[in-house]
Amino acid sequence: MWGRLWPLLLSILTATAVPGPSLRRPSRELDATPRMTIPYEELSGTRHFEGQAQNYSTLLLEEASARLLVGARGALFSLSANDIGDGAHKEIHWEASPEMQSKCHQKGKNNQTECFNHVRFLQRLNSTHLYACGTHAFQPLCAAIDAEAFTLPTSFEEGKEKCPYDPARGFTGLIIDGGLYTATRYEFRSIPDIRRSRHPHSLRTEETPMHWLNDAEFVFSVLVRESKASAVGDDDKVYYFFTERATEEGSGSFTQSRSSHRVARVARVCKGDLGGKKILQKKWTSFLKARLICHIPLYETLRGVCSLDAETSSRTHFYAAFTLSTQWKTLEASAICRYDLAEIQAVFAGPYMEYQDGSRRWGRYEGGVPEPRPGSCITDSLRSQGYNSSQDLPSLVLDFVKLHPLMARPVVPTRGRPLLLKRNVRYTHLTGTPVTTPAGPTYDLLFLGTADGWIHKAVVLGSGMHIIEETQVFREPQSVENLVISLMQHSLYVGAPSGVIQLPLSSCSRYRSCYDCILARDPYCGWDPGTHACMAATTIANRSQGSRTALIQDIERGNRGCESSRDTGPPPPLKTRSVLRGDDVLLPCDQPSNLARALWLLNGSMGLSDGQSGYRVGVDGLLVTDAQPEHSGNYGCYAEENGLRTLLASYSLVVRPATPAPAPKAPDTPGAQLAPDVRLLYVLAIAALGGLCLILASSLLYVACLREGRRGRRRKYSLGRASRAGGSAVQLQTVSGQCPGEEDEGDEEEGAGGLEGSCLQIIPGEGAPAPPPPPPPLPPAELTNGLVALPSRLRRMNGNSYVLLRQSNNGVPAGPCSFAEELSRILEKRKHTQLVEQLDESSV
Ligand SMILES: *[C@@H]1O[C@H](CO)[C@@H](O)[C@H](O)[C@H]1NC(C)=O
Ligand SMILES: *[C@@H]1O[C@H](CO)[C@@H](O)[C@H](O)[C@H]1NC(C)=O
Ligand SMILES: *[C@@H]1O[C@H](CO)[C@@H](O)[C@H](O)[C@H]1NC(C)=O
Ligand SMILES: *[C@@H]1O[C@H](CO)[C@@H](O)[C@H](O)[C@H]1NC(C)=O
Ligand SMILES: *[C@@H]1O[C@H](CO)[C@@H](O)[C@H](O)[C@H]1NC(C)=O
Ligand SMILES: *[C@@H]1O[C@H](CO)[C@@H](O)[C@H](O)[C@H]1NC(C)=O
Repeated sequence: MWGRLWPLLLSILTATAVPGPSLRRPSRELDATPRMTIPYEELSGTRHFEGQAQNYSTLLLEEASARLLVGARGALFSLSANDIGDGAHKEIHWEASPEMQSKCHQKGKNNQTECFNHVRFLQRLNSTHLYACGTHAFQPLCAAIDAEAFTLPTSFEEGKEKCPYDPARGFTGLIIDGGLYTATRYEFRSIPDIRRSRHPHSLRTEETPMHWLNDAEFVFSVLVRESKASAVGDDDKVYYFFTERATEEGSGSFTQSRSSHRVARVARVCKGDLGGKKILQKKWTSFLKARLICHIPLYETLRGVCSLDAETSSRTHFYAAFTLSTQWKTLEASAICRYDLAEIQAVFAGPYMEYQDGSRRWGRYEGGVPEPRPGSCITDSLRSQGYNSSQDLPSLVLDFVKLHPLMARPVVPTRGRPLLLKRNVRYTHLTGTPVTTPAGPTYDLLFLGTADGWIHKAVVLGSGMHIIEETQVFREPQSVENLVISLMQHSLYVGAPSGVIQLPLSSCSRYRSCYDCILARDPYCGWDPGTHACMAATTIANRSQGSRTALIQDIERGNRGCESSRDTGPPPPLKTRSVLRGDDVLLPCDQPSNLARALWLLNGSMGLSDGQSGYRVGVDGLLVTDAQPEHSGNYGCYAEENGLRTLLASYSLVVRPATPAPAPKAPDTPGAQLAPDVRLLYVLAIAALGGLCLILASSLLYVACLREGRRGRRRKYSLGRASRAGGSAVQLQTVSGQCPGEEDEGDEEEGAGGLEGSCLQIIPGEGAPAPPPPPPPLPPAELTNGLVALPSRLRRMNGNSYVLLRQSNNGVPAGPCSFAEELSRILEKRKHTQLVEQLDESSV
C-alpha cells in the first residue's frame, strides 16, 4: 500500500518543486537492496574498544606509527591500529572540573549531556605534538599533547576560536602548515563561522552588512592541493561542506530571511589568503559559496561528505550523504550523490548572486565584474600585475567580495542525479577509498554508517551503486559518528557513542563458490581458479607475479567469468522427507543473498510457481499444503540472481497414503456440524469482524507508516522487483513457534511421522493489500474436541493459514506443546512482525 503511496507522494512533490536542473528519476530505479545482511550475532573478525568514556566521535589515524587516536567525552585514547582491542592502549583523562560543570549547569545547560569535556578536535600539529580541543563544559580549551608520552601538558590554550561550546554542534577542523582551519558554531551564542587561528593572519567570515553564513551546520572540510602541478601558480584551497538556511529563496530582508528552508552548500577559501588591508581586515577575501544539489527539494540535509583523490586535484571528487529535509522529519530516507571538483571549480568561476534592493530578493548578478576576479586566489598572473597577496587587492574587488559571497549556479552531481536513494535508512557518516582491481579499473568503495548502528559497504559502478553488504556493528542501536579507513591495516574504524569498532575492509573467504564471489562484486575480492577460493585481490596481485594466474572478477556486471570454472561448490546433500497424504510440509531453503529469487524445480525440470496446486514459495522455503501422492519427487531449490542459477538445497519428498486415523478426523468446513442458520450467523459475524479488522489494520498500518517501520534484527527483503511490481506476490515469511525441547524444526522430520509434538507456522495472507484480519473466535467445543482438529480448521481461515508442520500419526501429540498456547503466542508475534516486515518491503 505504502509502496503505491510513495510515487504518488513523489509526484506531488515534484509538481511543487522549485525550478532547477531536472534531477528526478523514479526513485525505485535508484534504490539498492544490500546483497547480504550480517546481523550482530553473525559478525566475525571485528575488534572492539570500549573505555570508561562515552561518545567516541573524534578519530585520527596515524598510519606511520600504526596508532588510532580517539577523542571521547572526558578522555583521549591512543589505540594500536593493528588491533584496537589488544588492551595495550594509552589514555588521557581530561574532564572539566566539578566547579566548571556546576558553572555550566548554572548557565542553563544540561549537566547530564552538555557540561562535560567533549573532545571535538584532534589533529597532528608537528612531528612531536598532537593538538586537541574540547568543549570543556561550555568553556572550550585546547592543548598541545606530546604524542610519544601521551600526557596532558601543564598549560592549556584558549579554545574559544577553535571549538564549539555546544558538543552537539557540527564541527570540522584541519591543521594546515601549523594553522588551524575550523568551522563550527562558536561561542555561547552559537555563531556559525569558518575561522583560521594559531596563524599570523587570523581570519573569519564577514557579518556586516550581511552574514556570509546563516545558521550553518558544518559537516566536512578538506584541503585540496591545487597548487601542485598548477600551470597558473594557483593556491591550495580548503573546501567546506555544510547545511544552512537559504536566504536567497523567497523574498527576505537583507540579512535575515523569513525562509526557514535549509539547503546544502559547498564553500571554499584560499590557503594563502591574508585578509584585506582596510576593507575585509582579518576577514577572508577568497570566501565563495554555492548551493549543492542532490535531489531537491526532498534531500537537502547534508549528513556526511568524504573526498577521494584529494591529492590529485584533477581527479578529486566527493561523495555526500543527504537525508530528507526537515519538513519530512517523520520519514527516514537517504540519498548519495557524487560531485567532481571540476564542477565545483566551474561554479565558483561562474556568475554571482546579488541581493537586489529594489525587489528585495536575491537574483543573478548581471553587472560588470571587477578585476582581479573577486574571490579568486593569488596566481602568477596576479603576481605579475603586482598583487602579491590578498592585502594588495583593490578596494573595488574587496567591496564586491563583501556583497557577493554566493554563486548563481548550483553544483550539480556527477551524471546529474543521485547514485542512490535509500528508503528506511538514515545515513550519518560516510567514507570511501578507490580500489584498483588486478585487471586495471579502479572502483570507489564506500562505507556508509547509519543512525541505528549499521554499516553499508557499497561499490560505485557505472550504472549506480551496488550495496555489497549491510553489517550491524552495534548490538544497541546507536548513531555511527565517525568512519576512518586504514589501507595498511585493511581496516575500517567506526566511532560511536558506546565505543570504537574495527572491521576488516573485506572478508572474501565468506564467498564459497566462484559464482558467489562474482555476484558479491567486491572489488577487493576475486576468484582464484588455482586455489579454488575467493581471495583478497591485493594478495593475489602480489603472489601471481610468478604464477600469473588470472583472478576472476566482474565488478561491473557481476555475473561473468565462472562459466568455465567448475568451482560451484559441493552440491548440497539430498534430504528425504516422508509425509502422509494430506499433510503440510515445509522444505526449508534460505536465500543467503537478498537479491536472489528462489526457484524450485520438481524432478529437475518442472518450475513451481506460487499458488500452483498446493505449492507456496517463500523467502525461506517451499510449502506443500495438503500433500498428495503426485507431489512426490525430487525438489531442487535454486537461487536465481543476476542471470545466474545456483542450487541451494535438494529434497526427496515421498507422500504415503494416509492410514486411517484413530482420532476423529476434523470436519471439512468449520461449520459442518452446525445448523444452517447458526452457520449463517457465524458467517455474518465473521464478515463483520473481518471488515472491522480491515479498517483497524489499515489505520494501524497508516500510523505505523508515519512512525516508520523499525526493523527486526534480521532484515527481510522482497524477492526482487518483479514480485513487488506484480502486486499479488506472496511473501511467505514464517515465524515458527518454538516448541520446548526442540531446536530444529525442519531437519529432523524424516522417517515415519514421529510423535515428538508439533509446531505451528504462520503464513501471512495471500498477497492481500492490507493485513488480513485475525482469525475469528473458535467455538470452545472444538478446542476441547482434540488438538488435531485445530490446524486443519486454521488452514481454511481467510487470509491466514496456520500450518501444522509435523502432524502426528494418531492425532495425539505426545509433546508438551499446546496448540492453543502456540496459537496465541504466534498471534501476538504476528501482530508485530507482520506489520513491520510488510512495511519494510515497500514503505518509504
Ligand atoms: C545535575 O544537577 C542536578 C541539580 O543541581 C543535581 O541534582 C545532579 O546531581 C547533577 N548531576 C550531575 C551528573 O552532576
Ligand atoms: C611542536 O609544537 C609544540 C607546541 O607548540 C612545541 O612545544 C614543540 O616544540 C613543537 N615541536 C617541533 C618539533 O616543532
Ligand atoms: C553522547 O552519547 C550519548 C549516548 O551515550 C548520546 O545520547 C549523546 O547524544 C552523545 N552526545 C554527543 C555530543 O554526541
Ligand atoms: C610584489 O613583490 C615584488 C617582488 O617581490 C615587488 O617588487 C613589488 O613591489 C610587490 N608589490 C606590492 C604591491 O607590494
Ligand atoms: C608483496 O610482495 C613483496 C615482496 O615480493 C612484499 O614486500 C610485500 O609486502 C607484498 N605486499 C603485500 C600486500 O602482500
Ligand atoms: C517426479 O518423479 C517421481 C519419481 O521419481 C514420480 O513419482 C513423480 O510422479 C514425478 N513427478 C512429476 C510431477 O513428474
